Amino acid sequence: MNFHVMTLFPEMIRNGLEESITGRAMNKNIISLNTVNIRDFSQDKHLHVDDYPYGGGAGMVMQPGPIYRAFESIKAQTGKEKLRLVYLTPQGSVFNQSMAKDFAKEEDLVFLCGHYEGVDERILEMIVTDYVSIGDYVLTGGELPAMVMIDAISRMVPGVLSNDVSAEFESFSDNLLEYPQYTRPEEFMGNKVPDVLLSGHHANIDKWRREQSLLRTRKWRPDLLEKAELTKKDIEFLDKNPIS
Ligand code: ADE
Repeated sequence: MNFHVMTLFPEMIRNGLEESITGRAMNKNIISLNTVNIRDFSQDKHLHVDDYPYGGGAGMVMQPGPIYRAFESIKAQTGKEKLRLVYLTPQGSVFNQSMAKDFAKEEDLVFLCGHYEGVDERILEMIVTDYVSIGDYVLTGGELPAMVMIDAISRMVPGVLSNDVSAEFESFSDNLLEYPQYTRPEEFMGNKVPDVLLSGHHANIDKWRREQSLLRTRKWRPDLLEKAELTKKDIEFLDKNPIS
């Protein structure tokens, strides 16, 4: 999968994603990251990419021309006329795991990171296919949201995680939070690993993990529990274990 990011801060994107699992996936050519500096497409002698808002008001607005030309360069590079383009904005649909899965089906995905007070509406209307927010708070630019999305999308791309199964069976895939995990030592500062995990009894371990997922989700994310598909056994278990 090829990620293309139009930004004024390409280094920020590269530095964030060239580490760890996304960095390894790039080295293995499972994903690629093409950062496009919007300023390189300014035709202004001072390389300006923004100007005052018509109608007045605070801050500066990113001009349409440099963004248009940056996007044309990506179209030329991919040889594709139609590309899915995500504009990061607090006004967009809130990003979630099922959107990550859906975006992971694309061969090429383009991100536009805004800055200053915003981006000229005309270029957004021309090129944006998806308006996405990463949550109800306002950041200084679209770079961190683009990095968050690329990280979440990448791990849904086959081969990025060493164990493909782990992406499917974790938090949110079934609207339940993940069960708690433990490793050695068996006892840490007087706290023991739950006995069932040492028992080697796989059916009991699965049952305990399911119950822990149910309890955590009810306690921390009751909104998710409402969307989860619960069995009769799950419901009986929750009824027998009221919130303490
Ligand atoms: N740009 C500024 N804040 C943002 C947010 N919460 N999500 C996406 N893009 C943004």
